[in-house]
Amino acid sequence: MTHSIKFWAVVPAAGVGKRMNADRPKQYLDLAGQTVIEHTLLRLLHANIFAAVAVAISEEDPYWSELTVASHEKIIRAKGGKERADSVLSGLHTIRDQAADDDWVLVHDAARPCITSEDIHHLINSLVNDDVGGILALPSADTLKNVLGNNIVGTLDRSHIWRALTPQMFRYGSLKSALELAVGNPAITDEASALELQGLQPKIVEGRPDNIKITRPEDLALAHFFMEQQQ
Ligand code: C5P
Repeated sequence: MTHSIKFWAVVPAAGVGKRMNADRPKQYLDLAGQTVIEHTLLRLLHANIFAAVAVAISEEDPYWSELTVASHEKIIRAKGGKERADSVLSGLHTIRDQAADDDWVLVHDAARPCITSEDIHHLINSLVNDDVGGILALPSADTLKNVLGNNIVGTLDRSHIWRALTPQMFRYGSLKSALELAVGNPAITDEASALELQGLQPKIVEGRPDNIKITRPEDLALAHFFMEQQQ
């Protein structure tokens, strides 16, 4: 029996964001009058493609339930995990009764509030007929060094180096089993690396450079600037 393929979003949002040195997790910091995570989720909803958006929130999180977007009909709360991969897996588990193995899942960091509908649809249109799936990425503009201590021990060939962004788009079934097999492996820092561990070769799709991840305090001002430019 055939069914129409659905698209789901999973948003890991259970990190603490230590590098921000703030009084609350970075996804709850103010950015142009709204929290970072509200921007992210409203932009995903605005893309008008997802059956639902599963958001992984820490059980000790006192901020989430205060947000209007938390009660949006397409938002599903999942339990945050110890590592990002655990949070994503938990998000996948909350939609297990509704999602089919060949449905597509786009995993997007809560901390990337400048994501555009244009990039989401560009990723989907580029990969919807692909066997494996893939990720938004950017070619590296800087020369990258391999360093031990503070000694440079090599220079990477920049022409082969891309920076992994999100969303990362994979089939529900293969992403879930790849993450289940990867649990506890510290080398799994994104979804693509879990699939790579299975011998698969996800594709890269060039994304927009304004899709930054809020990591350090100065990134908030940069995100604000990019949002103004996008209007
Ligand atoms: O810390 P980093 O910026 O790499 O985190 C990327 C995303 O993963 C963030 O949106 C963060 O909230 C989420 N995360 C999570 N569960 C964890 C760690 C990070 O959902 N245990």
